[in-house]
Amino acid sequence: MQTDSSFTFVLFGGTGDLSMRKILPALFEAHRAGGMLADSGKIVAVARHVADRAAYIDWVNEHVKPHVSKNGVDETAWASFLDRIEFVKIDLGNPEDFVLLRDALSGRPGIRVFYLATGPSLFVPICHALASVGLNENSRIVLEKPLGYDLKSSNAINDAVGEIFAEEQIYRIDHYLGKEPVQNLLALRFGNVLFEPLWRREWVESIQITIAEELGVEARGDFYDNTGALRDMVQNHLLQLLSIVAMEPPHSMDSDSVRDEKLRVLRALKPIDPRDIGKVAVRGQYHAGVIRGNAVPAYATEPGVKPDSTTETFVALKVEIENWRWAGVPFFLRTGKRLADRVAEIVVNFRAVPHSALGASALRGGANRLVIRLQPNETIRLYCLAKQPGEGMNLASVHLDLAFDRFFREGQMEAYQRLLLDVINGRLALFVRRDEQEAAWRWVEPILNEWAAANKPPKPYAAGTWGPAAASAMLAQHGTCWLEEEN
Ligand code: BG6
Repeated sequence: MQTDSSFTFVLFGGTGDLSMRKILPALFEAHRAGGMLADSGKIVAVARHVADRAAYIDWVNEHVKPHVSKNGVDETAWASFLDRIEFVKIDLGNPEDFVLLRDALSGRPGIRVFYLATGPSLFVPICHALASVGLNENSRIVLEKPLGYDLKSSNAINDAVGEIFAEEQIYRIDHYLGKEPVQNLLALRFGNVLFEPLWRREWVESIQITIAEELGVEARGDFYDNTGALRDMVQNHLLQLLSIVAMEPPHSMDSDSVRDEKLRVLRALKPIDPRDIGKVAVRGQYHAGVIRGNAVPAYATEPGVKPDSTTETFVALKVEIENWRWAGVPFFLRTGKRLADRVAEIVVNFRAVPHSALGASALRGGANRLVIRLQPNETIRLYCLAKQPGEGMNLASVHLDLAFDRFFREGQMEAYQRLLLDVINGRLALFVRRDEQEAAWRWVEPILNEWAAANKPPKPYAAGTWGPAAASAMLAQHGTCWLEEEN
């Protein structure tokens, strides 16, 4: 990917956790790879508590360098990366300081990217301050999640930002959309003839989408306790994955074709009837337990978390899509912290053959299944039935494996690197459009409201397990179980 488009990448929250762990390392990788960033492209970090550029570079050396290139840092590339970095000291609470930024950016070639790696309460004030010094022209703005707390607050941010920036200038990040395996899901569905004819209610019995984490809330207890798993993971990452799995083939990969199709899925989600909530939604919270041999504390004792917190750290949902392709097919979504394993995967369970010429007993081996694993390792596994050797006709499940790291040894790109390059190059397809975000909030909100009204504590689960038993019971009602429960 060669580029000569110049840019200035302005990083608000330049000393924040996200800048340290994700954004600056991703920009470094793009720089190190060569040919991805224009030589003239600059990074302008904005922060309040740093004296000047020299102090900022010290901070980058101390805090960012440990997060780049797991296999050691290329010192020459690192030194030339630091040459790209400039610094402007701004107090975001003081709009007059933005004159300093305007002066620092004046006369520079190419597009300006403003990355708001700050809390959402600063999004609107920053946009106003940028507009007050005319910096909203010839620019793009990147908004990190969480964008709001509910539909109303998300609309308030979108309205205010939308008065200053046109929708084509706004890049709402959902980093799951930048993950290589999620891209591969599009390739699998729309680059092959094998799967698409079967990708529908006639042949699919159920679909599971899991994003399980071993990590707890780390240093974000305070934020997380006011957020919970439904807002943190379901409203965005899980519903985005669901819409990619379920969408109709887009006319092309241009940004609005893809986003239009995802939006149709989000709008077709069957609204959850409050009377059914106990049957279709499970919320849990982890208690103390053991993960990989290490004792881990209960959520309620994590720093920043209220001891009597009723915030959910686990959610499982049964979702239905009201359209011809998917009517009646349950989609089971699940996410949680401190679960037994770190895994993100999509499981497509196909129906059994309509008639078994081989006899009923032959089919005890199960049915076809496609397991698309997104992380930790990217694989696609297709389960088929084959005859067991020997006398008689008994079938057993065998699988075909596609391990991508064996085919493609190089060239994997981290999600943030891909997404930042897309912003710099003006590609919107992997960013969430406002109407998608609204549709997701609209669907999620009744669940939040119902949980708040019921005021019941979440179901407990021990850290290091797969969540509350109720999540398994929910699938059992449909005659199925989560993938890890099969064996
Ligand atoms: C973030 C959530 O969006 O995604 C975190 O805020 C979560 O709570 C993270 O840990 C998971 O991302 P990944 O890429 O590690 O699966």
